[in-house]
Amino acid sequence: MRLPEQVKVWEVGPRDGLQNEPSVLPTADKIAWIDSLTDAGLPFIEVSSFVNPAWIPQLADAAEVFAGIRKRPGVVYSALVPNERGLERALATGVNAIAVFMSASETHNKRNINKTIAQTYPVLREVTRTAKEQGVFVRGYVSTVFGCPYEGAIAVDQVSRVALRLLEDGVDEISLGDTIGVATPADTERVLEALLKHIPTNRLALHMHDTRGTALANILVGLTMGVTTFDSALGGLGGCPYAPGASGNVATDDLVYMLEGLGILSGIRSEALERPLAELRRVVGHSLRSHASAVQFSDGGMECGSV
Ligand code: HMG
Ligand code: MG
Repeated sequence: MRLPEQVKVWEVGPRDGLQNEPSVLPTADKIAWIDSLTDAGLPFIEVSSFVNPAWIPQLADAAEVFAGIRKRPGVVYSALVPNERGLERALATGVNAIAVFMSASETHNKRNINKTIAQTYPVLREVTRTAKEQGVFVRGYVSTVFGCPYEGAIAVDQVSRVALRLLEDGVDEISLGDTIGVATPADTERVLEALLKHIPTNRLALHMHDTRGTALANILVGLTMGVTTFDSALGGLGGCPYAPGASGNVATDDLVYMLEGLGILSGIRSEALERPLAELRRVVGHSLRSHASAVQFSDGGMECGSV
């Protein structure tokens, strides 16, 4: 296998993970957990989300969380931003990266951000332009790439159209979301083969949810095809409240274990994740989905039992 020597692991747990928790966690607990991620040496952390708090109450305290966390120089602290209002709130906290987001499927786009795909482009273009003027890195998520909870399979041409339009409108990187975790390695290869004809590997990321246990296999396909950025959430937290059936992201702890075994550098050591995993279990108050956490904790519990 030809594999990259080094990859970026983009931690989305504080955003994708906590947005899908059944309860709203205290701000101080979020801050303590994110600080433990910084201490563990994670280079990219998606801290929160400046969306409408009525839509995602779990992350209504995004500004307080940003103000409270310790920021290590050189670490990217990002936030999800849906529109100009969200960007204003994000810039006021001094973010150094943002992520705009939309879906390849019309129905999920409408359910998630209340706009058609055509109505979304100009909003995201404006957000991207303003952010870039401020020197802020912009990633663009494309959701439902491998399947939509409302429409089923999505044509790869449609994914390509949305991704290319976001790049044309200025985003630095596209993250391909398997929002409901339906992709198999064959799907991953097919979609990447199509997109890599137009987009260089260093501008593509994979954001795999692990609903059906295929996320690491899909990431391995991405690695063999030269992709070097992977999104993950510690403990396998995650899901989109506006995508029924979506469950956790691929777990950072499982991903790092695999990368270490493959001899691929990410700047993160498995042992360094033990403390943030313990902290996470404390703040969410339930056991975690990841395989590595089941090894770490003596209960071996993998899914949402009480601690
Ligand atoms: P809307 O209701 O159409 O917004 O929501 P609007 O522009 O009509 O404004 C309505 C009210 O909301 C106004 O207040 C605005 O000021 C306010 P009012 O005048 O009535 O008092 N408002 C805001 N307040 C604070 N911050 C803002 C903001 N925007 C408007 N940013 C909107 C449209 C996009 C805002 C809404 O649909 C929304 O917030 N959606 C977010 C849903 C979401 O966060 N989903 C999960 C994240 S996506 C995901 O998980 C997928 C991903 O992980 C990749 C993958 O897995 O595929 C990224
Ligand atoms: Mg997601």
